[in-house]
Amino acid sequence: MDLGMRIEKALDVALAKAEGTDCPPKLAAALRYAVFPAGHRIRPRLVVAVSEACGGGDPDAADAAAAAIEFLHCASLIHDDLPCFDNADERRGKASVHKAFGEPVAVLAGDALIVLAFETLARGVLADPLKLGGLIRLAGQAVGAPGGICAGQAWESEATVAIAAYHRAKTASLFAGATAAGALAAGAEPLQWRDLGERLGEAYQVADDISDVAASPEEIGKPCGRDVALGRPNAARQLGLDGAIALLERTIVEAIAAVPPCPGQAQLRAAILLETKRFLPAGLVRRAA
Ligand code: IPE
Ligand code: IPE
Ligand code: MG
Ligand code: MG
Repeated sequence: MDLGMRIEKALDVALAKAEGTDCPPKLAAALRYAVFPAGHRIRPRLVVAVSEACGGGDPDAADAAAAAIEFLHCASLIHDDLPCFDNADERRGKASVHKAFGEPVAVLAGDALIVLAFETLARGVLADPLKLGGLIRLAGQAVGAPGGICAGQAWESEATVAIAAYHRAKTASLFAGATAAGALAAGAEPLQWRDLGERLGEAYQVADDISDVAASPEEIGKPCGRDVALGRPNAARQLGLDGAIALLERTIVEAIAAVPPCPGQAQLRAAILLETKRFLPAGLVRRAA
């Protein structure tokens, strides 16, 4: 099965557990709406790619980790779009979850996806309690406090924040969780894989900042100009477009250099390089050239 199909299937099977007949229909519909159809799916692809590069000895654990990381990401998008955060009406080219289902259901759908992420790990890694414990810890670190997504979003309520710390918490932490979880799923040492995830996540957020300033809503399927409107730190505003593109390119080089020694090192480096070519919309790259 191709990697994309494998991830969609893992998400579908795991999501079905939350959609049982007892689930209130609007909540069940909102959960599916938030997860399908696919966004970039970069984080779950990273989980599985790292797991495969480390030998891929436990595909069930890798699938569970990939689904869990994507559920956490989808939850973060629901909450990020709420009026009390970025107040965004569109996501993935359609109405954001609170626009489609109302704020109460959106808050609860985000909460339920966070819980489902941990439940999915428990179901997929049941036979290996040590591995399960490690994966739960990595997922918690990626999204909680002091340095995960909750912290990243909470920096927006402080008077000042350094942009690097803001990007690291709101975006790079989940990428670092993805690479570390992929390694641990395959039985490899997770810590040495965090650096790759951190660099990739930083690059991904710099690309998102560039898109926020220079892309069109049609190109990215969500509103542009939010960072200026909301007073958020944005790399393209701070460094200028050329400076931000240079930072993006530098960070991608650092990410590829950070792939640790493993059986599939060369193949993983090539896959990551290909993936990073899609960080910016093609039209924006042409306009910037
Ligand atoms: C959006 O992430 C939030 C950021 C961290 C920039 P994605 O661009 O991966 O969102 P989807 O999953 O494709 O919608
Ligand atoms: C990205 O935040 C990280 C999270 C969603 C937690 P942004 O606010 O920059 O992401 P977009 O641009 O809305 O996707
Ligand atoms: Mg935000
Ligand atoms: Mg946002």
